[in-house]
Amino acid sequence: MLLAWFDAHARDLPWRRTRDPYAIWVSEIMLQQTRVAAVIEHYARFMGRFPTLASLALASEDEVLAMWSGLGYYRRARMLHRAAQKVHAELGGVMPRTAEGLRDLPGIGAYTSAAVASIAFGEAAAAVDGNVERVLMRIQGWDETNAPAARLREAAVEFLDTARPGDYNQAMMELGATICLPRGPLCLQCPVQPLCATRGEHVIGERKKMQSKSVSYAFARRRGRVLLSQRPKDASLMPGMWELPPLDAGAAPEGLRVLEVKHAITVTNYTVGIYDLSEAGDMALPGDASATRWFAVSALHEVALTGLARKVLRKLGAFPKQHADLKTSVTDTDQFMGAR
Ligand code: ADE
Repeated sequence: MLLAWFDAHARDLPWRRTRDPYAIWVSEIMLQQTRVAAVIEHYARFMGRFPTLASLALASEDEVLAMWSGLGYYRRARMLHRAAQKVHAELGGVMPRTAEGLRDLPGIGAYTSAAVASIAFGEAAAAVDGNVERVLMRIQGWDETNAPAARLREAAVEFLDTARPGDYNQAMMELGATICLPRGPLCLQCPVQPLCATRGEHVIGERKKMQSKSVSYAFARRRGRVLLSQRPKDASLMPGMWELPPLDAGAAPEGLRVLEVKHAITVTNYTVGIYDLSEAGDMALPGDASATRWFAVSALHEVALTGLARKVLRKLGAFPKQHADLKTSVTDTDQFMGAR
């Protein structure tokens, strides 16, 4: 029932056109906490630059982060890079073929190992993420009070189609993403409606409350270069990545405000004010000199920029032209809301 529906309705996604385990692995890491539409925007670019596991393993971390720019949750990129290096150096470049073996690699947990092992290698492993949990809970008529993770896993294994485990897992994800929606499931179009206990009497989860904050950054462009500031290596968010130099609220001269953008990261909506200090004296430039550096605009596509910095630089026409047309509409909120 489910597989027949999947065969007829599966979206044509780039990573479904390949059997290359490396390409499938990259897609599964990108798809963690990120909407399919946002992944599609970045997947081809990343695979174009790192077409093989060896090419990724041999790249520098900065290059990897630059190619990940805009996808958010950069820890995933660092772990993927480390895992590729491990496979390249210790396993002769050959990826483990089982969920158990894959789990030994950095950044690969229960869900991703089962997804890759089933899709790339046909192992009968059930991949259970938040979407699949929701589908299973509704089918079984369970709620948060009687559906511990272990029970959900048992149900997932019981339903698993062992002849086509990769398609089965993707069908469950697809059902969660397109039919069995968190709010307002489309039960009349659902292929497993006859065996579903809830059929529309779904439990509606609370949306996370968003907070609002304002932040300010300086924009300084001189002789084809812009001033950027590197985030601390031990920052919890986006460590080591480059952004526009942050300004203290009090240090932002209102007359020089040139741009305002909205940016959302997980549960916070930021109103971002950009202040043009290009003509200001050096003393007015913010940031500790050890963390700031001038970068040629023409080379910015190779810098590990935060998604916000890239978005702002594009809007201000300070990003290399041939790289400026890639969509920048992705925010971390989009990704976050798409997660469950
Ligand atoms: N989410 C996680 N993995 C996926 C896949 N292979 N296809 C679609 N959505 C997904």
